[in-house]
Amino acid sequence: MRSDMTNRQRIDTLNVTGELTKEEWVALISTYTDEDREYAANLAKEISNTYYSNEVYIRGLIEFTSYCKNDCYYCGLRRNNCKAQRYRLSEEDIYASCKIGYELGFRTFVLQGGEDAYFTDERLVKIIKTIKRDYPDCAITMSIGERSYESYKKIYEAGADRYLLRHETANDTHYNTLHPEEMSLSNRKKCLFELKEIGFQVGCGFMVGSPNQTPETLAEDMMFIHELGPHMVGIGPFIPHKDTPFHDQQAGSLEMTLFFLSLIRIMQKSLLLPATTALGTINKRGRELGILAGANVVMPNLSPVEVRKKYMLYDNKICTGDEAAECRQCLNRRMESIGYKVAVARGDSKF
Ligand code: 5AD
Ligand code: FES
Repeated sequence: MRSDMTNRQRIDTLNVTGELTKEEWVALISTYTDEDREYAANLAKEISNTYYSNEVYIRGLIEFTSYCKNDCYYCGLRRNNCKAQRYRLSEEDIYASCKIGYELGFRTFVLQGGEDAYFTDERLVKIIKTIKRDYPDCAITMSIGERSYESYKKIYEAGADRYLLRHETANDTHYNTLHPEEMSLSNRKKCLFELKEIGFQVGCGFMVGSPNQTPETLAEDMMFIHELGPHMVGIGPFIPHKDTPFHDQQAGSLEMTLFFLSLIRIMQKSLLLPATTALGTINKRGRELGILAGANVVMPNLSPVEVRKKYMLYDNKICTGDEAAECRQCLNRRMESIGYKVAVARGDSKF
C-alpha cells in the first residue's frame, strides 16, 4: 500500500487509472485540504469542458406523486410524516407539464415520485407511450424507486430511456441506519444492476453528509460507482427535514459536495452529473459552483406550481414558488454568468 502518497498524487492516480484502493480513498477523504479541493475542481472542470464544452444539459423534473410507501428516515415524503400533503398529478397534468417544458426547450422529462402503488405498470406504460408519441425527440427518465424486474422491463419497452435510483450509501450498516428494516442495500443494488441489464441509462448516487456517514462509507460509495459504471450520478448535500427523525441532524456542506462532484467527474469522465436542487438550496450559487466543480446537468422543476410545496424532500427547497418559465430564464442567466450555456438537446452521455 502506498500510504506515503500525497492527496494530489491520489487525485492524479484517480485521473489516470479511474480508480483508487479503499485505503487510498479513505486517506484522501479524511485528509483533503482546500488546496486539494481546488486542484480537483480545476481538473474536473477541464474534463467536463473537454467532453461537454461549456454546454449544460437541462432535465425537466415532473414530481408526479408525493405518496410513498417507504419510510426513509431522512425524507420528508416518508409515509409516517403525517404532516406531508399528498398529491398525485393527473395524466392530463403530466402531459401539460411536458408541453410547457417542450416549449421551453426541454428535451428530457424526468418523472419522479414516491413509491406509489397507484401508478401500476399499466398506468405508467400508458403515460410513457403518450409522451413518447407526442415528443418522439425527447428522452424520458424515470425515478420511482424499487420495482420488480418485470415492471422495469415493461417501463423500458414502453419507451423510457433512463432510470435514476440513488443507492444512498454503499455500506450495509450505514444503509440500515438511514432506512427501516424492510429496506435493504442488497435489493437496491439488485435493482440497479437489473435496470442496467435491461438497457436503461442508469443513475445512482448518495447524499453528502448524511447522518452516520464516514470516510469509509464514502470510500465504498466511490467504489460502488466504479463497479456499477452508471451513465449518471446524482449527489447533493443531506438537508434535514423538520418532520423526520433526522430533523436535528447537521446538513452536508457545500465544500464537501463540490469536492465529491469533482472526484466523480475525474473518476468517470463522460458521466452526466447534475448540480442538484439540494446544492442550490444550501447555497444561493450552489448550482453554479457545482458546474464549475465538474457537473454538467441541471434539473429544474416543471411540476405545476400548485403542488411544488408539497414535494418537500427537505426543508427550504428552492424554486417552489416559481413558474417553469421563470426557472428556465433564471437558469439561463445563472449559466451565462459563469460562461456556460443551456443546451436544447436530449443530452445523452458521450461515451
Ligand atoms: N436531504 C437531501 N436529499 C434528500 N433526498 C431525500 N431526502 C433528502 C434530504 N433530507 C434525496 C435522496 C433521494 C432523492 C430523490 O432525494 O437521495 O434519492
Ligand atoms: Fe428556479 Fe432559479 S432556477 S427560480
